[in-house]
Amino acid sequence: MSNIVIKGTAQLDAMRQVCRLAAQTLEETAKILGPGITTEDINTFVHDYTISHGAIPAPLNYRGFPKSVCTSVNEVICHGIPGPRQLKPGDIINVDVTSILDGWHGDVSATFYIGDPSPAARHLVEVTRTCLQLGISEVRPGARIGDIGAAIQAYAEANGCSVVRDFVGHGVGQAFHEAPQIPHFGKRGRGPRLKEGMVFTIEPMINQGGWQLHTLSDGWTAVTSDGKLSAQFEHTVVVTNEGVEILTAFSAPLVSSEVF
Ligand code: MF3
Ligand code: CO
Ligand code: CO
Repeated sequence: MSNIVIKGTAQLDAMRQVCRLAAQTLEETAKILGPGITTEDINTFVHDYTISHGAIPAPLNYRGFPKSVCTSVNEVICHGIPGPRQLKPGDIINVDVTSILDGWHGDVSATFYIGDPSPAARHLVEVTRTCLQLGISEVRPGARIGDIGAAIQAYAEANGCSVVRDFVGHGVGQAFHEAPQIPHFGKRGRGPRLKEGMVFTIEPMINQGGWQLHTLSDGWTAVTSDGKLSAQFEHTVVVTNEGVEILTAFSAPLVSSEVF
């Protein structure tokens, strides 16, 4: 995790392709979400869509993860394992898709409303969506990694929410997780400088209550310690000459939650 890989033109072309596929997968998955479907149904859809597009679902067997996508409902912060749980009106669910195409990884996630959210759930999800946007807006050559987290933390906390500490954004490329780490909290002006060609995720996990978490006995599912809601959005981005390019941008607005 110590060497930051700078991607050149050919590598970035490969990253654009896998990131487009990951975003398309998420966009198509959004269309099947609704009350009554199970997180296993989401897994089946993501798995089949990925394979039929010549790619591999990165989560499957990654460090022993048993499924092809992470599905994190309500108080689950991240790494929720698909299973028989049925979605019900009022739930929020993060679907986190990572695809491997020609050896390159694209990583993207969004939180969706099932039916009508409570005002509190809507507040959390919209704050989290904005946190990702604000983090991305900090990215340009010469900026510091700390600028990203500082912007996210300031907005989350000003809006009565907290920032998860235990999981961070990460470099991504031929490895699922590589250097650098991208915390979603911290201080402006701190940390390594961003350089053109760095590719990483920004993926703030924002909680309604406190940031503390614990992991369930399955060894993966991270839940809020206070049982309150958690939301997350994630994009893979590259530092460009001009500023930033979002590699996992969607080609059309998502039906259930207008993700940019
Ligand atoms: N996609 C997650 C991330 O954003 C990682 C999931 S690891 C898994 O970094 F094994 F749970 F899939
Ligand atoms: Co990620
Ligand atoms: Co992810």
